Amino acid sequence: MKASLKACDVVIFGGGGDLAMRKLLPALYHLDMDGLLAPTTRIIGASRREVTTEDYQAKIRTALDEFVPSSIGDSKTWERFKKRLSYVSVDAQQESDFVRLNDHQVGGDDRDVVFYLATSPDLFGSICSSLAAHGLNAERMRVVLEKPLGRDLVSSRAINDEVMKNFTEQQAFRIDHYLGKETVQNLLAIRFGNTLFEPLWDSAHIDNVQITVSETVGVEGRWGYYDNAGAMRDMVQNHLIQLLCLVAMEPPGRMDADSVRDEKIKVLKALRPIAGANAYTKTVRGQYAKGMIKGKEVKGYFDEEGSNPNSRTETFVALRADIDNWRWAGVPFYLRTGKRLGQRYSEIVIQFKAVPHSIFSDESNRQLQRNQLIIRLQPEEKISLTVMNKVPGASEGMNLQPVDLNLSLTEAFNDKRSPEAYERLLLDVMRNDATLFMRYDEVEAAWKWVDGIMSAWSQTSERPKEYASGSWGPAASMALPIKDGRNWHDY
Ligand code: BG6
Repeated sequence: MKASLKACDVVIFGGGGDLAMRKLLPALYHLDMDGLLAPTTRIIGASRREVTTEDYQAKIRTALDEFVPSSIGDSKTWERFKKRLSYVSVDAQQESDFVRLNDHQVGGDDRDVVFYLATSPDLFGSICSSLAAHGLNAERMRVVLEKPLGRDLVSSRAINDEVMKNFTEQQAFRIDHYLGKETVQNLLAIRFGNTLFEPLWDSAHIDNVQITVSETVGVEGRWGYYDNAGAMRDMVQNHLIQLLCLVAMEPPGRMDADSVRDEKIKVLKALRPIAGANAYTKTVRGQYAKGMIKGKEVKGYFDEEGSNPNSRTETFVALRADIDNWRWAGVPFYLRTGKRLGQRYSEIVIQFKAVPHSIFSDESNRQLQRNQLIIRLQPEEKISLTVMNKVPGASEGMNLQPVDLNLSLTEAFNDKRSPEAYERLLLDVMRNDATLFMRYDEVEAAWKWVDGIMSAWSQTSERPKEYASGSWGPAASMALPIKDGRNWHDY
């Protein structure tokens, strides 16, 4: 990672919350450990609660014990990190409270400031207007907006308009943590750092693309939030669609924020709308029932705390997307994601076409498998290419068998710790590089497409299909590619 050694104040609204403790502060700790924070960079927690800086530091120490166990005993890094940490009590809805940020010298000495809004999006507008009222929206100050940015196009626009009253598009960093994952960035390196794949990256050579983000967790005590969102808004509208854009976009002229985002928006605009009857043939929704995951019995969606038995919120979605342009005409992009599935993994599979004519004997012919490029994001980060090989041995004749050429990132770079997505993204905000963040036109285009599908779903009395926890989702989702004569890639 490139260094961000310009001094900066990072102010985290929702500084005592779950996201801050689990992800943001561990990421900042790692950046400090790797020498990527300037000596005078400060981290300031802000939330309504009255907490002393000492108590805040102690809370963070406890969080690091849990989420960065390797930090235990590293007193040198901790002492340095601790000196950066302070706390200011600010009620996000009380404009007068924001004077405490001025009292705390936020942005003093011309330092850059990152305001990370790890709060409910309903508060984004009022936080931004209170910041501006206290002179905290200068050009060198940026806001990071966590998802969900609304629950549809209309609400998303309302939130965005509020933010834009006081900050410019260049100051707004809309985060999608999937874009900070190492293998996702590696997808760009694979596509645009090699001559090998790009000539084959089109409908003449690729049969279909599959993007799977499979989780074993359920709603994890967030029934209220989750039931208002569902898998489509929580995962597809952002993470899966962003992955699709990176696979499908044209090569940008440069690796900078607007060049990359200009190409992604073209893909989003070329997504064929799914509406009306198409929503039944091209999408499948599911809701998890109880079942077994890794030998443990787990609850169904309706047995979770706070649940409502009438809910129609989907915890699983599979769909077929089509991109109406020259490069991708006729190539289906199958997307699926769900909670409480059999295995936690995320991958992108590029399934190439069959050879046009096989010269091999009948027996080998039957075994001829098509090339596949698999980009695995988790649990392990790896890229593999399946190619056909001759089985060794004179007696084998010309028997062929698929073999994986594997690039394991952990093995190839064995002295390197693979950073968490938030490390890279926080560093980029500090460096003022928005390449891996979403511009508002992308968010808007993604909502338009998703709203069309959700509106078709809302017009039916059909409920999401039940699936047993620990399975691969409803049977209908298996049938989705089968209808087109294809199959999901097995994990
Ligand atoms: C979040 C969703 O954006 O991504 C969660 O709100 C989901 O519901 C999470 O569990 C998955 O992220 P990751 O990095 O664990 O795959």
